[in-house]
Parts: sequence; C-alpha cells; structure tokens
Amino acid sequence: MGSPLRFDGRVVLVTGAGGGLGRAYALAFAERGAFVIVNDLGGDFKGVGKGSLAADKVVEEIRRKGGKAVANYDSVEEGEKIVKTALDAFGRIDVVVNNAGILRDRSFARISDEDWDIIHRVHLWGSFQVTRAAWDHMKKQKYGRIIMTSSASGIYGNFGQANYSAAKLGLLGLANTLALEGRKSNIHCNTIAPNAGSRMTQTVMPEDLIEALKPEYVAPLVLWLCHESCEENGGLFEVGAGWIGKLRWERTLGAIVRQKNHPMTPEAVKANWKKICDFENASKPQSIQESTGSIIEVLSKIDSEGGVSANHTSHATSTATSGFAGAVGQKLPSFSSAYTELEAIMYALGVGASIKDPKDLKFIYEGNSDFSCLPTFGVIIGQKSIMGGGLAEIPGLSMNFAKVLHGEQYLELHKPLPRAGKLKCEAVVADVLDKGSGVVIIIDVYSYSEKELTCYNQFSLFLVGSGGFGGKRTSDKVKPTQCEDDEDEDLYDHLLLLTE
Ligand code: NAI
Repeated sequence: MGSPLRFDGRVVLVTGAGGGLGRAYALAFAERGAFVIVNDLGGDFKGVGKGSLAADKVVEEIRRKGGKAVANYDSVEEGEKIVKTALDAFGRIDVVVNNAGILRDRSFARISDEDWDIIHRVHLWGSFQVTRAAWDHMKKQKYGRIIMTSSASGIYGNFGQANYSAAKLGLLGLANTLALEGRKSNIHCNTIAPNAGSRMTQTVMPEDLIEALKPEYVAPLVLWLCHESCEENGGLFEVGAGWIGKLRWERTLGAIVRQKNHPMTPEAVKANWKKICDFENASKPQSIQESTGSIIEVLSKIDSEGGVSANHTSHATSTATSGFAGAVGQKLPSFSSAYTELEAIMYALGVGASIKDPKDLKFIYEGNSDFSCLPTFGVIIGQKSIMGGGLAEIPGLSMNFAKVLHGEQYLELHKPLPRAGKLKCEAVVADVLDKGSGVVIIIDVYSYSEKELTCYNQFSLFLVGSGGFGGKRTSDKVKPTQCEDDEDEDLYDHLLLLTE
C-alpha cells in the first residue's frame, strides 16, 4: 500500500467544514498532520442564518484529537477574509477544498431571482472568491492543490435543481481552466461529484441510505487529490459509498453537412442526423486544441474536396501517404544555420520593433551596447533546417510543399541567442498524426552553438488533404503551447487588450 499519505506542515482550508462532507475532510486532513482552517457560515441548508457553533465544534473535535485547526465564520463570498485567517494563523495556504453549499430547490418556472442568485453566489462565486484569494500565494510558493465540488445534478441535470445544476457545472468549467493556468506553478485543480448522506441530502434520500453513504467514503479521494505526490490535474470524479470513477468527454465523429460554394441548410443537418449522433468510433478530445483543430480540418476538407462528406469511419489508405508512419524517428540531414546582425535586425523590424520605442533599439541597432537577437528569432534559426528541403528526403514524406501549412509552434531557449554566428541544427520527425483530412507532422529541431544546446523548437506542419491513412490522431510528443506561466499570462493579457 506504500507509505501513509501525510500532510505535515501543509495548510488546508476546507469551506463549509462545519458538517457533512466538509467536516469529514477537515478531520481527515488534521489526522494526517495538516493545519486546518475550518470555515463555516453556520446557516441552515437553504443558506438562512449564520453562527459560529458549527465551525467551533469541528475545531474542538480536531484539537481534542491532538490536531491543529482554527475556525473561520465568514461566508465563502468573502474569500479574502477566509484566506487571511489561514495566513494569519499558519503563514501559508497549500490546499483549498471548495465545499460549502446550500440548496434552493424549485421547479424551473418557480425559481425566483433570489433563489438563482444565492445558489450562484455561494457555489460558483464563493469558490471563485476563495480560490482567487489563495491563487497568488500558491503561485509564489509553486505549490497548490484545489478541489471544486460539483454534483451529478450539474453533470446530468436533476428535476427541481436548475439553479444548482447550472452553478455546479460552472464549477467544472472553472476547474478546467484553473488546471491549465496552474499547471506550470504546480497548482492542480480537480473536481468531484460526491454522493453522501448529510443534512443536504436528508430531504431526498431515505434514512438508511443517509446512514450508509458516509462522508468518510468520499474524503480519501479528496485527500489523495490534494497530496503533493498526486499528479492528477483537471480530472472529474464521481465518488460515493467507497467507489470512485473518472469522467471524460466523448464526441462523435460527426458529419460535414456543407458543400463548397453552397449554403448550409437545416435539411442537410436532418439528413445527416444519425451520423452526427452516432457514437461509434467516437473521439475523446482532451483539450481545446484538439477540439478546435478538427474544425480547422473541416474547412480544409470542404475546400479540397468540394465539401463532399466523406465517411470518417472508413479510413481509406492512400498510397501516397502510407509511408507516413515509417517517417517517425527519422532524422533530417543536419544543417548549419548562419546569420549576421543584419538578419537579426531585419527579423526584429519585421515583427514590429521600431526606433520609436527606445527599448527596441537593442534589437535593431548593432551599435547598441546591449545589442541582442529577439528571442523568437530562435524559430527562424530552426526553421531553416525544414525549409532547406530536407523533409522531402525522409522516406515516406515526399510532399507537395504547396499544401503545407505551419501549424503550432513551440520554442524553448536554453541560453541567449548569439548576436551573429552559425548554429548547428539537428531535426527529427517526432511524430506523424492522421487528422482525417490532413496530416500533422511534428518536427523537433535542436540548435547548438558550439556543443551547447541554445534552443529547441517544435514545429507542427499541417499537410492538407493527405490524411485518412488510419494513423493516430494525438501524440504525447506534442508540446503544450497554451499560455501557462506568468510571462505568458502578461503577454496573453496584453494581446487580449490589443484585440479588444
Ligand atoms: P452540508 O449542508 O452538510 O454542508 C455544507 C456546509 O456548507 C454547511 O455546514 C453549511 O453551513 C456550509 N455553508 C453553506 N453556505 C456557506 C457559505 N456561504 N459560506 C461558508 N459555509 C457555508 O452538505 P454536504 O452534503 O456536506 O455538501 C457539501 C458539498 O457537496 C456541497 O457543495 C454540496 O453541494 C456538494 N454535494 C453533496 C452531495 C451529497 O450527496 N451530499 C451531492 C452532490 C454535491
């Protein structure tokens, strides 16, 4: 079973920990050495009233057993105050379990604005407030574990819980993005949809079931997901009665219902409905890149085939492309990429550097004392080894360059680029993906100055109209290119501002 999972020195905040599931989490964390902040507003299950008793009792219970805990009685709507309690008492915050919740069940037409609003304020806004207050501390310490509490009501819908379902699935959306934005800082965010007997489920579950579905059968999952050794991030789990299962999205292969130069009609949608909804050979997209990538493919497919809907389920092997799989792992002829200050300057000017901004001078005037290459010039250095025609020499990759598009681009700089010089580039076909209408060729290029690695590029080339050879659609060799760290976030926010 391995060594026990301990939380010594970790500071854990559990919201709504005065009863039910939250109490079970707080006790379990404390028992394993964590310092616990027991937050609870202390109202009833509809969110009416407040008091300190609920949180105090749990803190008392933890302390009686020799654990360390402090109480907080604020509503989760005031996340800053709750996180401040953690910082004041223990000096840091490592884990946030967003658990507090209430119900205002009504059939849809009877939901008042207030019933809609308070459910969203407590579940969605509250989890946002608490998590945001902890986020920067977690980023600075490069560590954090966050739990969002969703519900089967949100995942599947439940009669009488439209307000609650909407907020609960909103939490999954929030968690999906936090999992991406936090990854680089070792902040993991996972979502659970629990089943447990509590005062909340008292009104809907028979008494013996309430008794049988103990919160203690949910808590171990939360502890594992919040442990430093757990790599899970962005997962969604249903849990109850001692069982745990993981959920994911599934998408049909679908159908193209439009033809080039023809309007798209509802009749064509109707005619293809069976195929649109047929889950046979369904794909399981795991990222927005995978999701939208296939939309781009549709455009090229319609364009290249005149929009005649091909049957994606039958992968016809094209003789022209059947050698793609054999190309994986093949090296391109090694290549030396030489450049002078002039090329570095032309590149900087080309991407918008200007004498109008004094900060740009070091990129466009070789006499500047800090003259340097723009870091993204590293892409140009690597690109030459692909554009030099070496690709066509790889067995199986005899391609028509008129049909090649530059897809995603990943760049790692290991040291500043020399202001001028000759870098040796080694390129290798990392993988070849079959995207249906097209092929994506993933190429890794390592550029060395002397013997030291200066930069690493990953190019993805989209070869229009050559797919459908039965190859795999995704690869673990593909580098994630979304904005994830601080600098990227700043750049990303800046780009957003520019496009607003
Ligand atoms: P519970 O009612 O026993 O516990 C919720 C706790 O949150 C209560 O102690 C309450 O005082 C506290 N709370 C309510 N509003 C608050 C606020 N604004 N600020 C701080 N604390 C507040 O309910 P249970 O069953 O333990 O639920 C815990 C979480 O699990 C909730 O988010 C619930 O929606 C979710 N859930 C529970 C299921 C179950 O089967 N018990 C099923 C699906 C989801």
